[in-house]
Amino acid sequence: MVGPKTVKNEFSPGFVSFKQFLSLAFNQQCMQFKDLFRKKTVEQIIRQGVTDSERDQHTLSRHLGVRDLTAFGIAAIVGAGIFSTIGKASAMGGPAVVFLFIFTALACAFAAFAYAEFASLVPVSGSAYTYSYVAFGELFAWIIGWALIMEYAIGNITVAISWSDYFTSLLNSVNGWHVPDWMTMDYFSAKSGFMEVNKLLIGGETLETIQLMPDFVNMIPQYLAWQTAPLIGSFHFIVDIPAIMIIILITALVYRGMKETRNASNILVLIKIVVVLVVIVVGAFYINLDNWDPFVPNGVGGVLGGISAVFFAYIGFDAISTTAEECKDPQRDLPRGIFYSIIICTVLYVAIALVITGMVNYKELNVGDPLSFVFSKFNSLKWLSSVIAVSAVVATASVLLVFQMGQPRIWLAMSRDGLLPKAFSRIHPKFKTPSFATIVTGIMVAVPALFLDMNIVTDLVSLGTLFAFVLVCGGVLKLESTPGAPRGTFRTPYINSQFIVPLLFIGGGIGMYEYYPDVLNSYFTFSDWESYRDNIPVLIFFVVFAYFAVQAFLKKMSLIPVLGLLSCFYMMSQLGWHTWLWFTVWMAIGLVIYFLYGQSRSRLGKEEGQQPLGG
Ligand code: ALA
Repeated sequence: MVGPKTVKNEFSPGFVSFKQFLSLAFNQQCMQFKDLFRKKTVEQIIRQGVTDSERDQHTLSRHLGVRDLTAFGIAAIVGAGIFSTIGKASAMGGPAVVFLFIFTALACAFAAFAYAEFASLVPVSGSAYTYSYVAFGELFAWIIGWALIMEYAIGNITVAISWSDYFTSLLNSVNGWHVPDWMTMDYFSAKSGFMEVNKLLIGGETLETIQLMPDFVNMIPQYLAWQTAPLIGSFHFIVDIPAIMIIILITALVYRGMKETRNASNILVLIKIVVVLVVIVVGAFYINLDNWDPFVPNGVGGVLGGISAVFFAYIGFDAISTTAEECKDPQRDLPRGIFYSIIICTVLYVAIALVITGMVNYKELNVGDPLSFVFSKFNSLKWLSSVIAVSAVVATASVLLVFQMGQPRIWLAMSRDGLLPKAFSRIHPKFKTPSFATIVTGIMVAVPALFLDMNIVTDLVSLGTLFAFVLVCGGVLKLESTPGAPRGTFRTPYINSQFIVPLLFIGGGIGMYEYYPDVLNSYFTFSDWESYRDNIPVLIFFVVFAYFAVQAFLKKMSLIPVLGLLSCFYMMSQLGWHTWLWFTVWMAIGLVIYFLYGQSRSRLGKEEGQQPLGG
């Protein structure tokens, strides 16, 4: 695409020497390379929003105050994570899982400072995407916009599947209604469950004996789904119908209007907060202190094993920044909404973790519905177990609502910038919502939810979100180190990191050497690729940590964003090789789309009269 042809056009007719040719080609390349990092100024973004609204005569409408934003934050945070994945994390870490909740809350709070600062600086819909456009330029903005699809749209696939699980088991437990198995799961889970159970049946087991095998009992519904599914030719028609129904319902609500969405979210949040408080208060009376001894049964390794699950439980506070253009006073209210929701959820999470690990032995908690499970263990509390099951359905629906609202608003911002087709920024004349983008989000979530296995995507969602957090923290560092750069009305408090970060690096190294020499050794010993590859993300983290230790020392960087960046990067490094690989593939697809579509259509590029790459 790039090369002699471009250069010759500029100078034809005529002859260019080889030396001239090389120098021109080099200059052209440099210019085009620089185009990838063209940045928007805050004024440009705000002005563009105003001219777009005047031209289109339709704007998003401003309904949200700090209470609504806090409620949206809680709506997005408290969901499948605390009602489900926390079970596995508690079983691995024991009562000490509370430390993981606190560590994760701190990492999120550090990142929240960065979000709050940017939200007050650039109060438009694009969230981390727009922030990166200001701090790092277009290419990074696109990368983040693309990564955020992981958090919102792909994240919602996970939440919808999880909602469907709660909903069908609720129908079953309360009313005894059994939704046919082939309508409640994805094709691939059913197929693999069928194969496993079938092997056992061929080996002489029966369904009754398999019921008694803890490792296989969960596969029986999958086996039955495969066996009872209608056939289309030889294809077993197995789809998750409740998942698609809830997505259609929520998409319709989000399409209908912000006021309606806000009211629904507020009601759902109220219900789930009441139930969570009841769980904590009632559960506290049933704590048996023996269950907290030992408090750290599986060491630090056991606690860290739950990182992905616990982080998933915190995802969502950043989603409220996508509503900036629908806030009455975004600069004041967004930072408050972000912090209030994180603080409230952290208090609730730590209390819940203490209660459930106090009520039963941590080893029993490896179940998909830990909260209702612990209450079902006490005869006098069985009624509460059903209430919790209902509230899990409510809680998960509210997460869906906020994410389903966040994704179209990011696309709206990307489309305004010319990086996505114009239709994505279309605002509905009556409902004042991004209509086309909302429908596309609905389809993008609903179709994979019909057949995807939830376990594949949960880690990817965490990785994509953490990646956005890392870049937003990096964005604040970039603004701080750029003289004259614009700053938000909310400022991340400056604490000098000059000695703290290098000391943390050295202390961490000594700690590993003293207490975990085997682990440290494993990073530097290559036996075979299979067992070594999971070390690679961790080694990348070490390199990043070392780099920031030096930079912090030399440049006296601001501590909070550095800690935010490092703690989020650390969590990313724990997500394993496969997740990184899939994430890289996803990002590569995004880059191809950018170079084929957005790069040449970028509004900023056109405004600056710059050439698209290769053009
Ligand atoms: N934090 C959200 C949940 O736990 C994603 O469902």
